[in-house]
This record gives sequence, C-alpha cells and structure tokens, in this order.
Amino acid sequence: MAGTRITTVTLRDMKHRGEKISMLTAYDYPIARLLDEAGIEVILVGDSLAMVGLGYETTLPVSMEEMLHHVRAVTRGVKQALVVADMPFGSYQATREDGVKNAVRFLKEAGAQAVKLEGGREVADLTRQLTGAGIPVMGHLGLTPQMVHQFGGFKVQARTATAAERLLEEALLLEQTGIFSLVLEGIPWQVAEVITKELRTPTIGIGAGPFCDGQVLVTNDLLGLFDDFTPKFVKRYANLKETITAAFAEYQREVKAAQFPGPEHAFRLDEKESERWEQHLQRRRQQVKTLGRG
Ligand code: KIV
Repeated sequence: MAGTRITTVTLRDMKHRGEKISMLTAYDYPIARLLDEAGIEVILVGDSLAMVGLGYETTLPVSMEEMLHHVRAVTRGVKQALVVADMPFGSYQATREDGVKNAVRFLKEAGAQAVKLEGGREVADLTRQLTGAGIPVMGHLGLTPQMVHQFGGFKVQARTATAAERLLEEALLLEQTGIFSLVLEGIPWQVAEVITKELRTPTIGIGAGPFCDGQVLVTNDLLGLFDDFTPKFVKRYANLKETITAAFAEYQREVKAAQFPGPEHAFRLDEKESERWEQHLQRRRQQVKTLGRG
C-alpha cells in the first residue's frame, strides 16, 4: 500500500477482506517516522504517554496541552498512517461540550485524523455528536485504563457471561454511534471473538486474543525499553534497554579514556588558515612578552 494514505475507509475495507490491521503507539517524531516507514496502518498517540513517556503511575495525569504537543510531533513524521489522538482523562468526562472542543483541537491544531475515547454507554452521546460533526472516533472498551481506580487496578474485564453480554451490547451501541474502529483491551479472547464477528466495525485488540481484526501494542513495551513489568499480553520484539544501556556505558568509557572523539569526528583548519593562525599566535606571544618587560 506504499504511497496511499490510510483512512477510516481503508480499515473497514481491510476488515471485509479479512486483512489484519497493525496499530502501534508513538509519542514523538522519530518513532512516528519509523512506524510509518514500516507500513504500520494506524499510529495512536496514546495517553499511555503518561506512563511510558512521562513517568506517571497511571494515564490519568496527562493533560490536553501535553497530548497536543506530542500529537503535533507525531503528525510531522507521518505520511501514510492514520494518526489517532487519545482524548486524555478529564478532556471529555465533564461535559459533551468539552469533549467536542477538545476533539476539534486534535484535528485542527495538531493534524490528527481521528480521536479515541474510552467508555461505552456513558460516551455514546458524545461519540454520536463527534461523528456527526465529521470527527472520526475510535472506541475503547474492556480494561479502559482511565477507569483504573473504579476497577481497583489494571484487571482483566468481562470475565463473567453477564459482564461479557454487557460489553457486547456496549460495542453494538458504539457501532450505532458511528465509530470507525473499536479497541478491545484486557478481555477474554472468546468475548473479543464474538464482538469482532458481530460488528461491521474493525476491532483492534490488546490483551484480547488473536481473533480481533487488528492488534495494538504500546511501542515502548514491544521494543523492550523497560523490564520492570511486562504484562502477559505483551510480546517483546527487541531488547532496546540492553542495547541502549550498553551504548551509554561504552560512550562513557570512551570519553573517560579520551578515545572519543577520534580524529574522524573532529574538524580541521585547512593548511592556509592553519599557517595564518600560527602567525597570529606568534604575534600574540611576542606582544605578551613585550608588555611583560614594560
Ligand atoms: O494509551 C494507549 O496506548 C492505548 C492503547 C494501549 C490502546 O490506549
């Protein structure tokens, strides 16, 4: 698909063709460029920024201004992928008006093509208003991290038949509001499989098993940038923590041993300017001597 901009319609067509959708998170320009060049179809500027980029314990503290700053950096690096901006906690919970204003800011001021927001029934009216206003919305159900305190921790959701039924109903309701895709996070794969079959809308899973229409991971987890905690659903495709730590240690060793920078990293005066510089220095030394005697 090189050269073609991915749109919400592309994703719907992919679902119909049975072609899986790849989605990853980015928070800055260099990673956004690499993801785009790798052909990842959807790049999410997730509010996971709070945890993996800004060092907070949960996703709750990240602000609209911080998200906008990072969405701008990402959109500058992307030519093909669909860029989705995550609506941070507090940007849509108080009033629908807040939600619309903040979603508009992501498209208008930061160049995102869509927004994502967490929740089911409680966000249905807002979602309907956004899609009606031409703002593509990605839904997010299951283990929605902005509800961490309500859930009493990051816990797998929909583990009973009743809860699974409720989740399916919420997914169907969100589809009616016009969402273009739905993230299913931290739910049993059997529940995700049924939701995926029931919906015309593409589902994107994270910790929701293999039967979703696409998959998403937090890029920092996939790259192995940290090893303090790795959730069960994460697969590490690289161990960048080890690679980066080794590079830092080697740099420090070379600086201390005066091995870096070597001649190949230094700039040189050309011969003519070097001679003139030498003459200048000689004149200077002479002047200092003369002044010293006087
Ligand atoms: O914020 C985020 O990164 C997310 C994904 C995990 C879906 O919401």
